[in-house]
Amino acid sequence: MRTVFWENNELKMIDQRILPARFEVVSYRGHKEVARAITDMVVRGAPAIGAAAAFGLALAGYESAATSTEGLIADLQASAATLKASRPTAVNLAWAVDRLMGVACSVDGSPDEVRGVILDEAQKLADEDVEINKRMAEHGAALINDGDTIIHHCNTGALATVDWGTALGVIRTAHEQGKKIHVLVDETRPRLQGARLTAWELEQYGIPYEIISDNMSGYFLKAGKAQKVFFGADRVAANGDVANKIGTYMLSLAAHDNGIPAYAVVPTSTIDLSLAHGGLIPIEERDTDEVLGIQFHGEPIAPKNAKARNPAFDVTPNRLLSGIVTENGVVYPPFEINLRSVVK
Ligand code: MRU
Repeated sequence: MRTVFWENNELKMIDQRILPARFEVVSYRGHKEVARAITDMVVRGAPAIGAAAAFGLALAGYESAATSTEGLIADLQASAATLKASRPTAVNLAWAVDRLMGVACSVDGSPDEVRGVILDEAQKLADEDVEINKRMAEHGAALINDGDTIIHHCNTGALATVDWGTALGVIRTAHEQGKKIHVLVDETRPRLQGARLTAWELEQYGIPYEIISDNMSGYFLKAGKAQKVFFGADRVAANGDVANKIGTYMLSLAAHDNGIPAYAVVPTSTIDLSLAHGGLIPIEERDTDEVLGIQFHGEPIAPKNAKARNPAFDVTPNRLLSGIVTENGVVYPPFEINLRSVVK
């Protein structure tokens, strides 16, 4: 089953807030509810939120009562703004919405024709995401040796995309090629996408893994107990600086210090050539309840009035990366020159 899909005139998505405790699919008929679902992380992961927003815009087309094409485009523009504002860091969200708006504006036809074209384009975008992930996975799997132990951060699998995954897709393909792999799964505080979602996916695929807390990765890298580090990204700047889930920077520093290769795996829709460097990438700061609201052995983890901070992403400077895997091949330094050649 896909993470994000269209069925019976509704957008359906796996509810990622409640996995692995329960597997539930939720349905959406309105773009505002889709925007809320992206903010609340019912759906998360850069390519998955791009696809969700694309189908959200298709819903907006059917919600609009406009009887003229101009009126429909105006309604769509307002809905596009709502969807794009739902999360700031992953560029795939704006990329998907802008792609659909471009197609909608190019239609010379009735409002109903525009509505149909948007839905077709959203479906095309979702189908392409799966195909792109599989191409990335082939390129990335060539970097993995039989017997490797890999540290993986956050969730970058089928749940973070329409299907298959980015960094976890690479691991999955290497496993299907018969390579014996062990995954050390960063739990990924504060929302625990690693412990909850990546571990759940690895169980489905039969790939051996152990969960480690994020602050253990330096220990395993220094002890020579991991040979590769793989993660995804939410936005890659033109110079190869990579914004990804908070903790990626520290993991990359530890990998670099120990001479262990670290790879980001991204579709080219995640590369934002309009930003010269990672310092320009907007970093989402989320509710501190995500940090303070968990329990340890049934008790709160912090004093009642504790304050916290919760930046959801950090930027890994390009010098810490060994390569960036895309659907068009693996890009090596100097990234500021070589990234441009894979973005079509
Ligand atoms: O906050 P999330 O769970 O949406 O963050 C997701 C990540 O950081 C992933 O690593 C990233 O989207 C790339 S994986 C497709």
